[in-house]
Amino acid sequence: MLIRLDKFLADAKVGSRSEVKEYIKKGRIQLNEETAQRGEVKIDPEITQVFFDGTQVYKKGFVYYMMNKPKGVVSATTDNVSETVISLIEDKYRDELFPVGRLDKDTEGLLILTNDGALAHSLLSPKKHVDKTYYALVRGFVTEQDVSEFCEGLDIGEKKLTMPADLRILKSGEISEVEVVIREGKFHQIKRMFQAVSKEVIYLKRISMGKLTLDEKLQPGEYRHLTKEELALLREK
Ligand code: URA
Repeated sequence: MLIRLDKFLADAKVGSRSEVKEYIKKGRIQLNEETAQRGEVKIDPEITQVFFDGTQVYKKGFVYYMMNKPKGVVSATTDNVSETVISLIEDKYRDELFPVGRLDKDTEGLLILTNDGALAHSLLSPKKHVDKTYYALVRGFVTEQDVSEFCEGLDIGEKKLTMPADLRILKSGEISEVEVVIREGKFHQIKRMFQAVSKEVIYLKRISMGKLTLDEKLQPGEYRHLTKEELALLREK
């Protein structure tokens, strides 16, 4: 659907109509690779990528971040005691943002933050079984027997066994290094799965969700906007 650029920008809360005009005049708005010249120009936001000072502007002011969650902060919007992932973000939409799913306070890695409730819902829906891949350090020798048990599903004290999970041993030793893919998101799931085979997770990091992988350049605590391609990957799942 075609829409005037100045209206699109104002709807996306980049600024008021007059502020938006000023931004265009100053060359701060890009349409794909080109600097926008006029607010009256009509664009199709499904086709044309719009940028304000280099940051992509989405329809209706939706924003999407990828964060490498650090240890020690909680993945919630508010907390009485600890710092939250939201408090790490500087964004004019910050008050609307929420994390898509939870990571434990001591877990690091990929966390999506957005104000797009529909996307969050579709990623978290238990029926969708979106794959989540974790890297873990585990105290104790992880064995092929553990691999089979993860694959069959484990009793972690719920009504049902967990869904089959893929456990890959990267190194087995007194401290083992593994990768695990799970398709659900039960509370402390990975830690409880290792407990069920008498082992303890001592470090946990989420490295992917669906087809989206954590940008290794992001240090713990750092975040950036998702690219259009990454957003499409998330929607594909
Ligand atoms: N499983 C856990 O035990 N903790 C997390 O944070 C995520 C998955």
